[in-house]
Amino acid sequence: MLKKIVIAIDGYSACGKSTTAREVARILGYRYIDSGAMYRAVTLYFLEHHVAVTNPKEVDRALQQIRVSFAVSRKGNSEVFLNGLSVEQEIRQMRVSAAVSQVSTLKPVRLAMVDQQRKMGKHKGIVMDGRDIGTVVFPEAELKLFLTADLLTRAFRRQRELLERDEMVDLDQVIENLMERDRIDSSRTESPLKKASDAHEINTTHVTIDEQVDEVVRLSLSAMVAGRTATS
Ligand code: DC
Repeated sequence: MLKKIVIAIDGYSACGKSTTAREVARILGYRYIDSGAMYRAVTLYFLEHHVAVTNPKEVDRALQQIRVSFAVSRKGNSEVFLNGLSVEQEIRQMRVSAAVSQVSTLKPVRLAMVDQQRKMGKHKGIVMDGRDIGTVVFPEAELKLFLTADLLTRAFRRQRELLERDEMVDLDQVIENLMERDRIDSSRTESPLKKASDAHEINTTHVTIDEQVDEVVRLSLSAMVAGRTATS
């Protein structure tokens, strides 16, 4: 039997991390966790309850009221739940995208999410995507990937996703949001986005999703076989 591993996928917004991670998990029979969805769910709660991110007491109080979980929908997709309600659609709205990077800079928010993410990965057999998965959440992950793509490609992809959800957003607004999130995600003090030194970098600009998935599955199988050789 091949050893179950942890696959950590990090990178900038809209590089195809989630699409790749979800499909790789399906092929390997692993659990898929979209860690960005967790930060988005917290952000949605903060927006709906008017939590002032500059007030640590309010943030702590809100965090005590928040329960983020995942469940597989009837269509077989992993969906994020906030206090028992599916918020998979709401968390993709631009109003959440516009606020999520700010909320993700808060230390108590990160501590709560990382703690939960580590518990989910305890038994391995998991693919998790985000910004700090290979550097902070699972520094011992058997396979780490860092996805990149040029800004315009990412913006086109994100705009198409929003259109599929009937949200019409101008391309310049999408570009601005991606640039601003890249800036905040990479420059924050707590767990900034950076490539782990042992991560494989994949530039997805000129690669189809199928090619991307095939490459990651191939790397995953190599990591599993290497694990078996090391332990046998
Ligand atoms: O992957 P995404 O674009 O849905 O993530 C939304 C935001 O959440 C992103 O701008 C930064 C934050 N995030 C984070 O700080 N750490 C993670 N592991 C995942 C996401």
